[in-house]
Amino acid sequence: MSKFKRTLITTALPYANGPIHIGHLAGVYVPADIYARYLRLKKEDVIMIGGSDEHGVPITIKAKNEGVTPQDIVDRYHEIIKESFQKLGISFDVYSRTSSEIHHETASEFFRKLYETGKLIEKTSEQYFDEENKQFLADRYIIGTCPKCGFEKAYGDQCESCGTSLSPTELINPTSTLSGNQPVLKETKHWYLPLDQYEPWLREWILEGHKEWKPNVYGQVKSWIDGGLQPRAVTRDLEWGVPVPVEGIEGKVLYVWFDAPIGYISATKELTPEWETYWKDPETRMLHFIGKDNIVFHCIIFPAMLKAEGTYNLPENVPANEFLNLENDKISTSRNWAVWLHEYLEEFPGKEDVLKYVLTANAPETKDNDFTWKDFQARNNNELVAVLGNFVNRALVLTQKYYEGVIPAAGELSDFDKETLASISTIKADVEKSLDNFRIREALKNAMDLARLGNKYLADEEPWKVIKTDPERVKTILNVCLQVTANLTICLEPFLPFSMDKLRGFLNLEKMDWEKLGDTALLPVGHKVNKPELLFEKIEDSVIETQLQKLEDTKKANEMATAKAAPAKENIEFDDFAKMDVRAGTVIECEKVAKTKKLLKLTIDTGIDKRTVVSGIAEYYQPEELIGKQVSILVNLAPKSLKGIESQGMILCAENADGTLSIVSPDKKVKNGSEIR
Ligand code: MF3
Ligand code: ZN
Repeated sequence: MSKFKRTLITTALPYANGPIHIGHLAGVYVPADIYARYLRLKKEDVIMIGGSDEHGVPITIKAKNEGVTPQDIVDRYHEIIKESFQKLGISFDVYSRTSSEIHHETASEFFRKLYETGKLIEKTSEQYFDEENKQFLADRYIIGTCPKCGFEKAYGDQCESCGTSLSPTELINPTSTLSGNQPVLKETKHWYLPLDQYEPWLREWILEGHKEWKPNVYGQVKSWIDGGLQPRAVTRDLEWGVPVPVEGIEGKVLYVWFDAPIGYISATKELTPEWETYWKDPETRMLHFIGKDNIVFHCIIFPAMLKAEGTYNLPENVPANEFLNLENDKISTSRNWAVWLHEYLEEFPGKEDVLKYVLTANAPETKDNDFTWKDFQARNNNELVAVLGNFVNRALVLTQKYYEGVIPAAGELSDFDKETLASISTIKADVEKSLDNFRIREALKNAMDLARLGNKYLADEEPWKVIKTDPERVKTILNVCLQVTANLTICLEPFLPFSMDKLRGFLNLEKMDWEKLGDTALLPVGHKVNKPELLFEKIEDSVIETQLQKLEDTKKANEMATAKAAPAKENIEFDDFAKMDVRAGTVIECEKVAKTKKLLKLTIDTGIDKRTVVSGIAEYYQPEELIGKQVSILVNLAPKSLKGIESQGMILCAENADGTLSIVSPDKKVKNGSEIR
């Protein structure tokens, strides 16, 4: 690890206002976990920090909407998030939270130090104030028309229609979401971090000094710096947050993006009295695992804060990922378009590693990527089951069958045997190289090459055939297979920890260090292994269909929620309306129209006559349930032939926002033939 003695891994603190979804996992927690497990296997000194980000305006808005306190909201989600991470096996050394006392102290002290050493600028400016609620309005509490695209519900910080970032004073017709009134501009005092002063230093430190950072990270940093840095307010007029620790100041808190990254420090303090070693010793390497929306905060603002404070290390690397989409659509909490971790854990018990595997194999490392349930199924069935599971299962089953589970001695090795065993070390070097460069997805592919190698070796050597002609040779073949299997438990340990634990159970083997990977005698001759079970199970189509249906339902619900009633049509005279002859009638016969999906043929007693009507409601009603039902029927509609049947009228339906149809019936039973008007 060159000049470093230890590693501090931080993972973006998720906002405690909603559960964790696959986007968070793929972007931050799964890669960080793999990396941390890898370093631990290498016996390096490493800690992995996590926790909840419990401040910020969205939390207070949610609390207000639900009529509870912000603390109630964060208590609820902190628990859900913490538990779901633990069940998935994300191996935080500490999972803290920013509403804790230790964090409030740490963040206050940090601010105070900057304040007292003159690192902050004090500035008074005009900001929107709600006179009815007597409070300054956070950007998110102001909506108005976007000056760029004309969208009428743009927020004070951003227009979600065109994506432009805004400041509240740019909005046309600003409105307070608290009172619905027009806010007024009022003077208020805040403290700013003069980022502009840090520009030359940032250029030197990152643009010159860290050209090795991922291109997506380096590129974003460069464009921020080239765009010109402005002083950034680090305080806000709000109630919820860390109060500004300056005498006589009330109703102001630290900006959430000022206090949250300090949460990494507080969490380390909570973990160990040695916390300063991890933060201040230049022989500690700090890594921030984050998603791309956090780059500016971790590469510019937080480093500038640390630099201003003066006693802390700076990050050595920031391996930020791009975004994961779900079934070709942006993951969105508000639209419920996500696979939620806590739901996955309930619906797929015992398949924690499968999710990690798929999210890693498909990780959005260099560009946005898509999670699809079909791909999830395919990777499980074709890779975990058909390659890894199949190989170890056959090796272990044959060992039971031929040798009662006792490792046989290898005879003379063929060239192919030697090559196969030698490949383990080559694969080890490949995995290391990928992991050392934060190419986690490539590392997984390399590690899985060991399973592919074993599977191919077994298929080529066919011990189940050789046993009939040369049983001595089979001992060698299985010895090789079993040594590969034992090596797999090390090689795949960072990626599939639960499964490798299980596999070690089958092999009757203790957990081994990374250093042992490549050793071709991990299982001594005579060692007894256990009867294996299946390492992975096939995922059936029906399971995938259930998930796809769930998403389909979400889509429908969203359409319903956002649908607007069509505008009213042009006015008509009563006489126009009176031309329509609508009557109450009763369905006396009903059947599906053969070879169609949508059509029903109904016989209706209209009170005038009994007539046939063809109606496009077969997807919404079963024929049986309609018999005897009273409906409204337009009886003077010109007859029309549908699928060879003459339809003499039309049954009136309400068309729901999602396009489904609902028959309009008289509220109480009336005599057939009664006019409807
Ligand atoms: N809560 C932020 C988000 O979800 C991340 C905060 S990371 C930290 O985007 F550095 F501030 F902790
Ligand atoms: Zn806009």
